[in-house]
Amino acid sequence: MADVSSASAAFASDNAAPAHPKALDALQQVNDGSAPSYGADPVTRHAADALRAAFDSPDAEVLFAFTGTAANIIALASAVQPWHEILCSDVAHVLLDEAGGPVRLSGAQLTRLASDDGLITPDELDRRVARRGEVHHSQPRIVTITQSTENGRVWTVPAIAEFVDHAHALDLLVHVDGSRVANAIAALDVSPSEAIGDADIVTVGGTKNGMLFGDAVLVRRPEHFSGIHFVQKQIGHLASKHRFVAAQFLALLEDGFWLETAAHANAMARRLSTGMTALGFQLASPVDANEVFVNLDADVHHSLAQCYVVHRPDLGEPVVRFVCSWSTTDSDVDDVLATLRELR
Ligand SMILES: Cc1ncc(COP(=O)(O)O)c(C=O)c1O
Repeated sequence: MADVSSASAAFASDNAAPAHPKALDALQQVNDGSAPSYGADPVTRHAADALRAAFDSPDAEVLFAFTGTAANIIALASAVQPWHEILCSDVAHVLLDEAGGPVRLSGAQLTRLASDDGLITPDELDRRVARRGEVHHSQPRIVTITQSTENGRVWTVPAIAEFVDHAHALDLLVHVDGSRVANAIAALDVSPSEAIGDADIVTVGGTKNGMLFGDAVLVRRPEHFSGIHFVQKQIGHLASKHRFVAAQFLALLEDGFWLETAAHANAMARRLSTGMTALGFQLASPVDANEVFVNLDADVHHSLAQCYVVHRPDLGEPVVRFVCSWSTTDSDVDDVLATLRELR
């Protein structure tokens, strides 16, 4: 394995980015005296109100977790029984990158649906419900989609509205993995609620948006997720010092700042992809948000990996992922483009 200790992580992931100073300031400010634990504090209440307001979901319940994986598991495991089936795309994080956590914690089957970079057509759902009621088959209960997708695509407002409505017509619940929902909202330039359609439950990413840690679960139809607080506790994400997660959300949501950081990340991805295309590299997927997927020959990838940490989602494919964040600068982009120019 190459020694990557001195390689730049500037495009490794939005998880590799530093925490935004606003998030750190919020931690400092809330670190003042004692407060009730396990989410019973006023900061957590205010942050939950802010999330409800941002997503125009006044009746939603809000839970906070340390990680996106936990937020997804809390959402999915509380929706199903062990004889149920969770539907997801063939590139879903819950399927490929959560070490089987949603299956282990829910006991339900996870079934992959064909997709275009994570975008699923509504008719994919039809054949999955055909065997409902047959005792030999897991029973489809919830479909999870990702906004923006694992391949950097954004569901348009009409597409997500149609998909969610179709799922509901088939008596399926809908979860949105919104680990990068801020990037989707900023890219679409719409209100947060339009970017998630009529979804029943949403993971709202904080860490990738600039927080030190923390993602939220927005439960828009709590009646379908009745055990959710117990799942959160069982898997160890009911933080005793909840206010330190919540305060960061409060700080970033204030005055729509979370969408400014996301729009910046998206703009950096556009600059990067435009530059790559000008150098003659071929994009593997359209760049809708803050991630760029590009085809790199094995030797170019190998040389690049000496100076940049970059992720190859599928080791059998030449596709390499570059992720931009709130902290990516014009010169970060220009530097990596200069390196790629030399390696081309
Ligand atoms: C689409 C998506 N969902 C969920 C997660 C999980 O987030 P975490 O690493 O905080 O568990 C990630 C992380 O990369 C992700 O890309």
